[in-house]
Amino acid sequence: MNLYAIKENDHQQFLLITFLDQKHFFSFMMILYFFIIFSILRNCSSQLLPPLPAPNLTFLDQRLALIFPIIQNFKSTITLDPLGVTQSWTGPDICNYKGFYCDNPPYNTSAISLASIDFNGFQLTAPTLDGFIDQLPDLAIFHANSNNFSGIISSKITQLPYLYELDLSNNKFIGTFPLSILNIKTLTFLDIRYNLFTGIIPPQIFTQNLDAFFLNNNNFVQKLPDNLGSTSALYLTLANNKFIGPIPRSIGQATNLLEILFLNNLLTGCIPYELGLLKKATVIDVGYNMLTGPLPCSLGCLESVEQLNFAGNLLYGQVPEVVCSLTNLVNFTLSNNYFTKVGPLCRELIKKGILNVEKNCIFGLPNQRSIVECLIFRGQIKLCPLQKTYSVIPCKIPKFRPNRPARTERHLISYSALSKHTKLY
Ligand SMILES: *[C@@H]1O[C@H](CO)[C@@H](O)[C@H](O)[C@H]1NC(C)=O
Ligand SMILES: *[C@@H]1O[C@H](CO)[C@@H](O)[C@H](O)[C@H]1NC(C)=O
Ligand SMILES: *[C@@H]1O[C@H](CO)[C@@H](O)[C@H](O)[C@H]1NC(C)=O
Ligand SMILES: *[C@@H]1O[C@H](CO)[C@@H](O)[C@H](O)[C@H]1NC(C)=O
Repeated sequence: MNLYAIKENDHQQFLLITFLDQKHFFSFMMILYFFIIFSILRNCSSQLLPPLPAPNLTFLDQRLALIFPIIQNFKSTITLDPLGVTQSWTGPDICNYKGFYCDNPPYNTSAISLASIDFNGFQLTAPTLDGFIDQLPDLAIFHANSNNFSGIISSKITQLPYLYELDLSNNKFIGTFPLSILNIKTLTFLDIRYNLFTGIIPPQIFTQNLDAFFLNNNNFVQKLPDNLGSTSALYLTLANNKFIGPIPRSIGQATNLLEILFLNNLLTGCIPYELGLLKKATVIDVGYNMLTGPLPCSLGCLESVEQLNFAGNLLYGQVPEVVCSLTNLVNFTLSNNYFTKVGPLCRELIKKGILNVEKNCIFGLPNQRSIVECLIFRGQIKLCPLQKTYSVIPCKIPKFRPNRPARTERHLISYSALSKHTKLY
């Protein structure tokens, strides 16, 4: 029988007996009095027990004591923790909490402080990070790929003097691009891919000292800023948004770029001749946009390029032989366009499986568009405004380019960014 049930029955019986005997009202009052005293004593008895030992909150460093309540407060806002990671977030040993890493801060190498947080793949759900990361003054790295954090990014994160890596990818952040990020001068790595950001990216982000900037798979809707080429980034992925307008001619100034993805946006206009100035680039991907015109011969100067994708646009004309002579090309994709001619060097690349020209208008080659489709397109061709630049080759092309050395499989960071869960560092 349930213990609570017995108590209730006893209580009812006691009241019944005393109420039935009106003459013994005084006795009843006395009994009630003792009953109340007894209850009070019983309620207070827990305070009479020896107190539980206070948790040993001896912190390694005063800095950790200061952030302890901030972490505990954040912990209390977490509504889902399917992997149970926050179970380790108790007691003073913050440096051994799952996902927390301590180090000596630069301003005092004998101090110990929280330097890095890595929540990658923890699947935590919390309504906001506001009041958490912005209150951890020595934080240098924050990685939170594949969690379920939402809300907006606090403007207070600009207060963090050491933050240089910020990965908020694959969460549920909303709102426009967090302007506060523009003021974090130390930031070099910014990954906000796979969120629900909308609106525009402020052009100032391209003058910030970033090495890597991943913003693919959001809902940014805007013309690409003219100063895009001011970027110092080595890796820039703009893929899977709604960018419109042309690729800015300033792109030629972005000479640090190793990998750039414009893939799957709504870009229009002709490919700027300046794209051929990216001498260090190994990946250039402008696939699945609405770009038109011929390929500029300047692309023959992309001496490092391995992956070159122009698939799914409205490009036409002859594929420049000088591009097909690039020795580092591993994958040159021109499928789903309206090209009409390929020369012998390009045909050689087709044979080797490097160049893909399926679904174009190159008669005599397999898997081309129908004649009708090609004729209709031809009737609608618009010429590019800077036509003369298309034949300019802004570098010295060697008469003989040696065969490329066999290349082993390479890890291409920007393509990894196109899947949600990959860590990019
Ligand atoms: C509290 O923790 C510190 C460091 O872990 C340890 O040195 C100390 O002995 C502990 N004190 C008690 C009372 O347990
Ligand atoms: C450096 O940090 C240690 C540990 O917190 C502290 O004892 C010391 O006073 C600090 N030194 C300076 C110069 O602030
Ligand atoms: C994310 O959070 C929402 C509610 O905030 C919840 O319904 C959903 O199950 C969470 N998703 C994951 C993958 O934890
Ligand atoms: C070449 O690149 C295209 C476009 O990025 C891609 O779809 C294709 O799978 C690649 N081919 C190979 C063999 O890697």
